[in-house]
Formats: sequence, structure tokens, C-alpha cells
Amino acid sequence: MTANRKTPNELAITPRDLTFGEGAAHERHWLAGDPVATAFYNALSATFPLGERFFMDSVRRYGHLAGPPLDGQIAAFLAQEAVHSREHLLFNSQVAGHGYDVAAMEARTRARIAFVKTRPPIAQLAATVALEHFTAILAHAVLADPRHFEGVAPEARALWRWHAMEEIEHKSVAFDTFCAASRDMPAIRRWALRTTAMAFATVLLFSNVFASMGSMFRTDGIDRIATWGRVMGFLFGRPGILRQALPSYLGYYAPGFHPWMNDDRALIVDLERTLAAAQPGVA
Ligand SMILES: [Fe+2]
Ligand SMILES: [Fe+2]
Repeated sequence: MTANRKTPNELAITPRDLTFGEGAAHERHWLAGDPVATAFYNALSATFPLGERFFMDSVRRYGHLAGPPLDGQIAAFLAQEAVHSREHLLFNSQVAGHGYDVAAMEARTRARIAFVKTRPPIAQLAATVALEHFTAILAHAVLADPRHFEGVAPEARALWRWHAMEEIEHKSVAFDTFCAASRDMPAIRRWALRTTAMAFATVLLFSNVFASMGSMFRTDGIDRIATWGRVMGFLFGRPGILRQALPSYLGYYAPGFHPWMNDDRALIVDLERTLAAAQPGVA
């Protein structure tokens, strides 16, 4: 871990207008036939189109405060998130095609975003910073440990890994925008706002994800204690994405935190080559 406290000067944020899954729908339990793992990622995917639009709006609102290079990074962030939303809408329509109630999942996300939108714009940006940290640390976990997408068809695997790499690339954009927007705030108040937003965001995100997983388990007829035991094993045991992400999650609460304190760009290099080979001319 490199102890940067700012975004690397030479950071490249590259929007890649790729498309996945138009030719072939993914299977019902596309993650290695596992209904638990599939439900977790389906639930996350259901939050993305609405969540990412909210992130884009929250950051764009303060774009006028950003000088170079942050202004260019914001433009690249907006471009990346727009394509993520487009691709996850397609993915989510395939999830709905398997009989899962995606509309109800989206309604839950919409209600949570409506609640956050009752807060002042700077608090909305703080919530975006928190959730962008979540996506970046989950992205790190899935790219660092190949077990997460073992047994997944190439198209779905490429979608999730492409999204993960771009989340890592743009992980400091909302944070740096928040620093610009709150520069006149006392440091302690800025820290309190950022960390309180994270505590709320954690509750809102996981209550949402677990409710959506429950709805998919009901559709599959497996909403019972044993299934939820498997959920805990999957999240905290093997492969244990939340166990793996926990130290980085807690690091967010430190006063001197910056997303690039963990410079994990090395995770992107190999993947970029794979994606370029799979979709020549567009990467
Ligand atoms: Fe995204
Ligand atoms: Fe993002």
C-alpha cells in the first residue's frame, strides 16, 4: 500500500464504451450456479442505474469548482458512469426476465435516494463519496481474488470486471470534488460530514441489498434460515468479499483518509489487455 494522500498526477481515467450480453442472456444463477452469490450481485446491479445517476448529479453540481486536472477527471467519471448504467440496465432486464421482481428492487433504491435528496447538496455529495468508496473497495476485492467470478460465463465476467476496473480508476473523483466543495469548512466538520454520511450509506445500502436478496430467495423458494447462513458464509467466509473489504472500509473513518492511499492500479493492467483483446477497436 502506497501512502498517497492525493490523487496521482498521472492518473488515467479512460471511458471505455463497451457492451456486454446483447447476444446472449445470462443464466438464472449465472454466478457458478449459486443462487446466493447470484442474488448478491443481482441486488447490487439493481441499485446501479439509479444510484449512478444520483452520483453523477451530486458531482456535476459542484463541477464548476474544479480546476485541472479534476475538471477532466469529472468529465471522464461522468462518461464512465453513464455507460455503466446503460450496461447494467441491460443486465437487470435479463434478471427480470428470470422472474425476479427488479421493479420492486428499483423502487426501494428510488425511495432511499429520495430520502438522501432531502439533505443539503453537500451532504448528498458526501453520500456519493461514501458509496463511491464502497464500490471501489468491492471492486478491489473482486479483481484481487479470482475466486469471486470463478465459473462465470465470459460475457458476464467481463461486464463485472470492466465495471470494477473503472470504479478503481475514478475512485477519487467524488472525494476530490467534495474536498473542493467543502474547502471553507473546518477540517473536523468536513470529517464529521464524510463519516456520518458513510454510516448512513452503509445502513441504506445493505438494508437495500438484503431486502432485494430476500425477494429473489422468495422467488426461488429458498427464503429460509439456512440460505441466510450461506449468505453470511459467502460474504464473510469464502470467498468473503465483505471480510476482504473490511479494513479498507474502516480506513475511511480515519481523519487523513484519501482513496489513493491504496494505489491499486496494478489490478487494472492485465484486465485492460484482456478486454482490449476481447473487443478490439473499442477499448
Ligand atoms: Fe459505476
Ligand atoms: Fe463509480
